[in-house]
Amino acid sequence: MSKFDKILITGGAGFIGSHVVRLFVNQYPNSQIYNLDALTYAGNLENLKDIENSENYTFLKVDICDRDAINQLFDEYRFTSVIHLAAESHVDRSITNPFAFVETNIMGTLNLLHSAKSLWQDDFSNHLFYHISTDEVYGTLGETGLFTEETSYDPNSPYSASKASSDHFVRAFGETYGLPYVISNCSNNYGPNQFPEKLIPLFINNIIKKKPLPVYGDGNYTRDWLYVLDHAIAIDLIFKEGKNKQTYNIGGFNEWKNIDLVKLLCQQMDAKLGRKAGESEELITFVKDRPGHDLRYAIDASKINKELGWKPSVTFEEGLSKTIDWYLENKEWLKNVTSGAYQKYYENQYAN
Ligand code: NAD
Ligand code: DAU
Repeated sequence: MSKFDKILITGGAGFIGSHVVRLFVNQYPNSQIYNLDALTYAGNLENLKDIENSENYTFLKVDICDRDAINQLFDEYRFTSVIHLAAESHVDRSITNPFAFVETNIMGTLNLLHSAKSLWQDDFSNHLFYHISTDEVYGTLGETGLFTEETSYDPNSPYSASKASSDHFVRAFGETYGLPYVISNCSNNYGPNQFPEKLIPLFINNIIKKKPLPVYGDGNYTRDWLYVLDHAIAIDLIFKEGKNKQTYNIGGFNEWKNIDLVKLLCQQMDAKLGRKAGESEELITFVKDRPGHDLRYAIDASKINKELGWKPSVTFEEGLSKTIDWYLENKEWLKNVTSGAYQKYYENQYAN
């Protein structure tokens, strides 16, 4: 038996998860890949159309908050490893409804840990629980410095507090019960299939529609952007070669102030849409700031670079261009995910 035999990927219908599922289905034809997802507003099986009929792929529509259902699945399928991405992932939603974040991100993770421990406890060797986490657990940086794996946890939003808590539970299961685990903490991802509530796809959609671009506060907040496929490749490497009980930071070596990023996006989109230079920048509107808004995130990714040889392969200009092209070529996808409940969310979020 090996950890590669039956790999459970949670949240595989979401943005990052769908790229991870595709990579694993294609890369490991001798492994069975199980995609477990509750298909919340953020989950979309259209993201996986190209691999849905692969022989080594199975989709399981289950909520990780349902402890009995999760236990039954582990009994039935005897997963040999877990790559856990399922989560409530949007900071703004966590400010409006923190309870959903505690339920899915903390209780849901605990349910998976409990089931994995129960199934594997006779012999933990050849098993792995891999938790996908975020750099937001470290809180905020000032104008200088980088998050390392040694940085203390200091979460500021209900989202990051729930992710920090789930990281702690994973560690606790390693220490208390001997569950083999790795955790990675990644910076902001962007790329195809990202739900248009996050900065880049939201603004692409608004530029296409010539709607205002709501920049929070003065726009001088900094994020470290990574192309989603580079994150999926890092996840594969850590799954294969990461050391037990280790944490790996993943980042893009690519810091941008929001306002500069938005201007670059406007320039690229004007060129691609045949609009006159500067036209989309006129849509920029400064709006009420996000409460508790973290000033700056930036990752020191030297550990994963030195130990596993990973570094980003896609430059930001290239990745952003590919991302815009994907959204322009997939207007139907964009239309489907922005109909219905999305409109209500948008009206509430950007009311003032
Ligand atoms: P996403 O919101 O696009 O996808 C989350 C997926 O989880 C969806 O398919 C959703 O249906 C599923 N899900 C939500 N609640 C569930 C539940 N109770 N049971 C089963 N499935 C459920 O998120 P994403 O941006 O792809 O993020 C994936 C993971 O990576 C998250 O754990 C997030 O914290 C982490 N992460 C994200 C980023 C980023 O920039 N997006 C960066 C670092 C880490
Ligand atoms: O750092 C990793 C995290 O990155 C992940 O853990 C989260 O799941 C992911 O959502 C992302 O969190 P952010 O809060 O950084 O991403 P978001 O796209 O929501 O916002 C990026 C920046 O843009 C942030 O400074 C807030 C700002 N912003 C965002 C939106 C949606 C705006 O100015 N206007 C907006 O409308």
